[in-house]
Amino acid sequence: DPQPDERIVDLGCGTGHLTNRIASTGADVVGVDASASMIETARETYPEIEFVRADAREFSFGDPFDAVFSNAALHWITEQDAVLDSVAATLCPGGRFVAELGGTGNVDTIIDAVQAVAADRGYTVANPWYFPTIGTYARALEGHGFEVRDMSLFGRPTELDGGAEGLASWLEMFGDRLFSPIPDDEREAVIAEVTDRLREELFVDGVWIADYRRLRVVAVYAPK
Ligand code: BEZ
Repeated sequence: DPQPDERIVDLGCGTGHLTNRIASTGADVVGVDASASMIETARETYPEIEFVRADAREFSFGDPFDAVFSNAALHWITEQDAVLDSVAATLCPGGRFVAELGGTGNVDTIIDAVQAVAADRGYTVANPWYFPTIGTYARALEGHGFEVRDMSLFGRPTELDGGAEGLASWLEMFGDRLFSPIPDDEREAVIAEVTDRLREELFVDGVWIADYRRLRVVAVYAPK
């Protein structure tokens, strides 16, 4: 719910698509992302918007903001206390933190299949992402001075781009940390086995559907 002239941070802005949507409402928005290439693309695509390369665990700005927004970024960071420290330090009292991230159970079917295939080959694969429950995230927010106004956890099955190659492409694009215990020269075979295992469950009418679950949060910074 951005308002004209509000100062808003888009945390984990990627290539700036949603930052631009927020800017189009008249808000004064800054996009923040840790990836140099994402920030470069965002600056080229939306030259009128400010983009800053910074780590969500330790970013800071001089003047306070009215809101911090984040979509599909925070589950990449297991050190969520550091993120919430930075978000709190960025907001004025009464400022909003509005975020969506992967919630508990997100892509469980895919993670389980990778773990099973890896185990057959003698490797132990851990879930590298942060997919909290409502309780865990509410406690973390309250511990950083936020009042939770709304939080929901819901399934959002998501079509993967790429047709028959969709799951393999998704694993190649996002699976680096997931596959870290597996030697490079075995990854292709592991992806092929995972794809075979999941075809019946997740491949529907020529499209791979990932079992995304979202945690959506609205919280207000209300330090005592
Ligand atoms: C997501 O839920 O958006 C996601 C999770 C893991 C890797 C990539 C995307």
